Amino acid sequence: MNSLVRRTHQLHQLWRTYCSAPASAASRTAGRPSYEEFIGQHQQQAQRSIVVQVSSEKSYAELYNYCSRFGSILGAHHYCVRQDEALHYVLLEYATAGEAAAAIDAGVTNGDLSGVPVRSPFLWFRAAAAAGARRGPKLASQPAPTALLSIDGNRPAEQEHLLIVLRGARDIEEQVQLLHQHSRLNELGVRLRFLAALQVQQAISGMFPAAQALPFGSSVNGFGKMGCDLDLILRFDNDTGGGGGGHQEPSRLVYHTKENLSNGRSQTQRHMECFGDMLHLFLPGVCHVRRILQARVPIIKYHHEHLDLEIDLSMSNLTGYYMSELLYMFGELDVRVRPLTFSIRRWAQACGLTNPSPGRWISNFSLTCLVMFFLQQLRQPILPTISALAKAAEPSDMRITEDGINCSFGRDLERLGFRSRNQSSLSELLLQFFEFYSQFDFHNRAISLNEGRALAKPDHSAMYIVNPLEQLLNVSKNVSLEECERLRIEVRNAAWVLESEVESASLSPEAGEGHGSHNERLEMSWGLLNLFKQPEKAVIRPNMFFKPRMVEVSDLFEQKEASSSSSATVPTASLSPSSAEPPITYKSASVRQQVQSIKAATRSELKQLRGSANGSSAAPGNSPKNRRSSR
Ligand code: GTP
Ligand code: MG
Repeated sequence: MNSLVRRTHQLHQLWRTYCSAPASAASRTAGRPSYEEFIGQHQQQAQRSIVVQVSSEKSYAELYNYCSRFGSILGAHHYCVRQDEALHYVLLEYATAGEAAAAIDAGVTNGDLSGVPVRSPFLWFRAAAAAGARRGPKLASQPAPTALLSIDGNRPAEQEHLLIVLRGARDIEEQVQLLHQHSRLNELGVRLRFLAALQVQQAISGMFPAAQALPFGSSVNGFGKMGCDLDLILRFDNDTGGGGGGHQEPSRLVYHTKENLSNGRSQTQRHMECFGDMLHLFLPGVCHVRRILQARVPIIKYHHEHLDLEIDLSMSNLTGYYMSELLYMFGELDVRVRPLTFSIRRWAQACGLTNPSPGRWISNFSLTCLVMFFLQQLRQPILPTISALAKAAEPSDMRITEDGINCSFGRDLERLGFRSRNQSSLSELLLQFFEFYSQFDFHNRAISLNEGRALAKPDHSAMYIVNPLEQLLNVSKNVSLEECERLRIEVRNAAWVLESEVESASLSPEAGEGHGSHNERLEMSWGLLNLFKQPEKAVIRPNMFFKPRMVEVSDLFEQKEASSSSSATVPTASLSPSSAEPPITYKSASVRQQVQSIKAATRSELKQLRGSANGSSAAPGNSPKNRRSSR
């Protein structure tokens, strides 16, 4: 009977955890948690959780039985970290933070291993003591373990698997959706990232009781893919400006503090140096600590070996945190935003426009801004402007960072009342995105998400995206002229490929028939896959002074672009890939498609030729990569 009551309690807790949103969330955004609620819920969940290394998932039943003595286990996930061999871990979630704390407090140090003992949510389940040794308290009855909620749950989808899934889709629309579903960061990935944050926070909480380590960036804004890095901001004042807990009477007992003598930036750098040492010397799992303290936003980078995760820790980047909130809200406003962005990010990665390391190329964040801007400037906008969000700010939305940067904007999506009347499908939007940027006047115009329209460019940067929260800064200042030009060439190519794919799909009234029967499509690359066709390229960027003498495809097929292209006129409805396309009209769609296929095949052959010609110019230490020159 007891175990039945216990099980019912567990199921109720599970239901509360996974199926219901808090009342405040429901009232604010019709069931969808706001960013702060999302962060808060996951922080609490992390406090109820521990991660235990086991010898394999088969140890789970034993672990469950052992750990049930500390409290009621709501759920468990298994994941692996692959080094030379797979290391196995189980994340256990208790019903309360106190129960998780009891489990952690019961941890002991292993006398055989050197190292300073540190309390942390990362533990190790050692083999049971030999027979006759003292055992822990005996449980009244051994609870039956709830099944593992995931096995190897942190593993990104294999490329081969993704290929099969995308080939099996009904149409391009479904391919975009499937790509998003199969590559986005899953719930376990989010939980593990919050545990990494909690570990840092707990490590310093004795000395800094108000310290908070907050995840931001793609780990929490809904645009992250499996395996994405974790961006963390460490705050000592527990103040992200939300004004939480303001109802209590302020205490009259005030902590003494040490006066800071140096200026803000050098003080932050000094603190970070010190934290870098602390992480490096004491925190379990933390390795490869690198300090990048001269950057505009100083960061400490490290790897977490129990999570197989790269982490960027900063202390002075609250605008980055609020920027993630804006992106989160954009993703919540319309269900098309995230799948579309995933396809575009994937395409950019496949054609070598983006790269995990920073450089003269466009970052994922800037690329995401391009997508958001595109969705704002449509004749029927899918997203509101940031100015509109700022105008909707209420007193409770006021957020001013310590540097005085105003990050106030309306945070209640329901009250905002923005409803898009745009009915375009994902494949239409994707094509429109490529067409829009193939004609965008990057030379003269800046992109403003605040205004939702292009502005005159204030300086000579190759690409100018007004930083939405610090409007005097350019988010894409790092992008070189060559990379900007390459982007324009690649979006034009993509528009071309996608247009013929869309046409091919519409040859027969039955969606997808233009690409052959279902079985044929399972064997071939079609639709979105043809956008990702190039093998993912390694890091090597166009040499500014190298002008290959190979013929450019654009020279063969396209007229020189009219110099008067203006960003203000946006052909959102047009399906023509570029205004520079020769004015040929085809009576038969199949003839048109054949011509386009020949063009595409020739282009790809030329690209390969050019690639093998350029292969010898690869930088030492990097794999060769095909490259395009700017004209
Ligand atoms: P990936 O790490 O590539 O998956 O994407 P990401 O969105 O996490 O980008 P990144 O790690 O480069 O940056 C983390 C977050 O910092 C972004 O999501 C933004 O919220 C914010 N951010 C990055 N660059 C800027 C910037 O120039 N200005 C502002 N205000 N925020 C930025
Ligand atoms: Mg990131």
